[in-house]
Amino acid sequence: MAHPRFGDIGACVFDAYGTLFDYNSAAARHAATLGDKAPALAELWRLKQLQYTWLRSLMGRYAGFWQVTGEALDYSMAALDVEDPALRDGLMDAYRTLDAYPEVPEMLATLRAHGLKCAILSNGEPGMLESAVEAAGIAGSLDAVLSVDEVGIFKPHPSVYQLAVDRLGAPAARVSFQSSNAWDANGAAAFGFRVAWCNRFGQGPERVPEAPDAEITTLAELPALLGIG
Ligand code: LAC
Repeated sequence: MAHPRFGDIGACVFDAYGTLFDYNSAAARHAATLGDKAPALAELWRLKQLQYTWLRSLMGRYAGFWQVTGEALDYSMAALDVEDPALRDGLMDAYRTLDAYPEVPEMLATLRAHGLKCAILSNGEPGMLESAVEAAGIAGSLDAVLSVDEVGIFKPHPSVYQLAVDRLGAPAARVSFQSSNAWDANGAAAFGFRVAWCNRFGQGPERVPEAPDAEITTLAELPALLGIG
């Protein structure tokens, strides 16, 4: 039986980085070069990447996520005293072909087999998303890959979530939105989606409006939440 808040879902919309794709796999692939700085670099890079999206949105200075990701990497490498242009290129390249989390392909196939539309809604630029989707082999399970690039502002601005409603033709209350980022989950709930927070990293809830409807630890739990597993 479906979770009471997920009984009438027509479309499932997924965040990309951290939810479908493992952003830590970039630094992990270069662990031999980074040595014991690898975990700190991965964490700071992600933190600055997100901060820069929020700062640029507030400043009215949108730039594509590729540029923002590179600027966050430059900050992080400088902060950790890592000066290595070849390593910088390698880390950025890895971002185009991040590993998908292991449960993702089968979970998407299950949703599609039950007639649900599936889409990505991400800060990522279309080219970055396209190559990650291709590398993960999940293109055939997706009805749409939507990028904030179309609206020129980052999550959690409501116009980003509206893009999914417009493009999928499903009202917000019939969209199940999944993100491992608590702030993104809250932002999507504030917009009006039904939200499953995929708390992969065992984080505490964010103290910003609104709360997600459900919490899961991996996306393998999503079909059961929707009453199809
Ligand atoms: C994304 C970031 C927030 O994919 O993970 O939109």
